[in-house]
Amino acid sequence: MISEHPIIVANWKMNTTLADAIIIASSVRKALEEMHHVEVILCPEFVWLYPVKEKLSKFPLSNLKIGAQNISQFDNGSYTGEISAQMIKNLVQFVILGHSERISNFDEDENTTNKKIKLALDHDIYPIVCVGERTKSETSVTFVVNKLKRILKTISHEEYQNILIAYEPIWAIGTDKEAESDYVDEVAKKIKEELSDDLKVLYGGSVDSENASNYLIHRHIDGLLVGRASLKAREFVEICSLANGGCDDIG
Ligand code: 13P
Repeated sequence: MISEHPIIVANWKMNTTLADAIIIASSVRKALEEMHHVEVILCPEFVWLYPVKEKLSKFPLSNLKIGAQNISQFDNGSYTGEISAQMIKNLVQFVILGHSERISNFDEDENTTNKKIKLALDHDIYPIVCVGERTKSETSVTFVVNKLKRILKTISHEEYQNILIAYEPIWAIGTDKEAESDYVDEVAKKIKEELSDDLKVLYGGSVDSENASNYLIHRHIDGLLVGRASLKAREFVEICSLANGGCDDIG
């Protein structure tokens, strides 16, 4: 079951050493002992999934989960270098799919993301499906919603309760130019209206502890997908603490 509490996802991308991964994961776990109104999902690099899981499973917390950053679009076979959903299904509960960095650097498209979503669901992994527009001028609620509809084509409505959406405008990723929170709320609202109220919608793009609350106070924004700020344990814990602090449901 996906949590009803605000959801904070850490996307470490390809940035941590094993030592970094263990230190951040341990710090977050320790801080979460005191936080019971937030769900946190750490998404390490593939090679650190096992050691991070090992570390966290010594003192498990029900609101601290592990996710992967990608899976193969194939289930098994002769695909050198690929990692399948079934290989990691015992390590993770979530997987980030369709991130713009997969699309721009590895030629993935809406069809690829769709195949990966189906495979993740088949293996009982909750997909965190990213969607967003490339440029600020392209920004429109309809553009984003239509893109998401195409990505989710062939996914049944019953499955929507097992999917998280991450609205990540590409121009806001890694730029320190975060999107207006009112606009993000409008996008999240529209996604729920047009697709399903069961979908939880997160925001990602230059989130930090200074701006996190701006999003969390909004009714339709269910959490955050954090890149750079998730690499600094103290900063990330602060974001989790803001989410835990009951910022949801006010807006
Ligand atoms: P930043 O938070 O570094 O902008 O990255 C966002 C992101 O891509 C999360 O998936």
